Amino acid sequence: MTRLKLAILISGRGSNMEAILEAARDPAYPAQPVLVLSNRPDAKGLETAAAAGIATAAIDHKTYGKDREAFERAMHEQLTEAGVEIIALAGFMRVLTPWFVNTWEGRMVNIHPSLLPKYKGLDTHQRALDAGDTEAGCTVHWVSPGVDDGEIIQQASLPILPGDTADSLAARLLPVEHRLYPEALTKACAEIQTRA
Ligand code: GRF
Repeated sequence: MTRLKLAILISGRGSNMEAILEAARDPAYPAQPVLVLSNRPDAKGLETAAAAGIATAAIDHKTYGKDREAFERAMHEQLTEAGVEIIALAGFMRVLTPWFVNTWEGRMVNIHPSLLPKYKGLDTHQRALDAGDTEAGCTVHWVSPGVDDGEIIQQASLPILPGDTADSLAARLLPVEHRLYPEALTKACAEIQTRA
């Protein structure tokens, strides 16, 4: 089985990235991480990836001012140079233009901390609490031009407990995300391989 060359895009802590790198240490895992790329040069996850022996790159979006596409073209260049076949967004905090999304359509997935289609965008946990929901969760989905709008690959949920706050919910959800993402990425790779 050929492993798909994987890039993980991050902006900060990179704990989901770490969970994927951990899973990909198994040579039978269907994706091989070849690049971790951040739009923030100070992202903590870059250090973690480098320590794990993965190539890293930082492309500071601020350098490009308002020209989102120029920033994305720089990313695209790095990704193609590394021979990337699938992209996992993992806490990547830039909205992508239709140009980038269309270029990578069907080859880019994201993790979002809500049970989509509920609570696209930010503040997902507070919004779930305000709505009186009894469960929260996370979703791995294909990336499409709409924000958090693409086809769902896999979801995981957990109960909201009395006294939960946005922070306690986020903390309890994180290990759930870490289990979900490597598994959902396996499914995404299988789908790409089937198409090929
Ligand atoms: C996660 O909660 C993820 O669902 C959201 O951003 C957070 C990233 O955390 N998109 P980390 O950088 O993976 O630790």
